[in-house]
Amino acid sequence: MSSLNKHASDKQTVLTEHERHEIDHWLKRYPEDQKQSALLGALRAVMHEDHYLSYEKMDAVAEYLGIPSVAVYEVASFYSMYEMDEKAAGKNTIAVCTNISCMLNGSDKIVEHIENKLGIKHGETTPDGEFYFKIEEECLAACCGAPMMQLNHVYHEHLTLEKVDELLDGCLPESSSDESDSTNKTNKEGGK
Ligand code: FES
Repeated sequence: MSSLNKHASDKQTVLTEHERHEIDHWLKRYPEDQKQSALLGALRAVMHEDHYLSYEKMDAVAEYLGIPSVAVYEVASFYSMYEMDEKAAGKNTIAVCTNISCMLNGSDKIVEHIENKLGIKHGETTPDGEFYFKIEEECLAACCGAPMMQLNHVYHEHLTLEKVDELLDGCLPESSSDESDSTNKTNKEGGK
């Protein structure tokens, strides 16, 4: 056990090896008495593994960093890049900005298109767990590129329906993507 996690207890076996490795990576960047500075990176590592933050994992992170659990909950609930709802455990997270600049540039059509394409509403995950469509996002500070969305926290701007299709299909395993293409084609040919 490294010196960085010498105070770790059995409870921390809740964290995967990858998560502990990532947290140790961030801990090395800060003084020994400033372990809370590694919190954002630690939560990012858990999100990467589970796609949401369970209380069990947040408590384990708190113990690993030697900080109160409530300090972890505060950070997790403050930043919209973290999800605390198990329903959000989709492999790919979509967040469409619907604030004023994006709204004036057609974000409603983008939202409608995604809902129809994936068969889910805001705040829902597709049954296969591939996509989670976050509840409406406020301005994501890319107004010049409106309409825009984040896909797995990466910004995509000047969206068109075709660009959205391309991005979402690109997230799918190849066979599902082919199916999706033919479904879209069928829908278009059928005038839907
Ligand atoms: S209004 Fe959409 S990024 Fe600002």
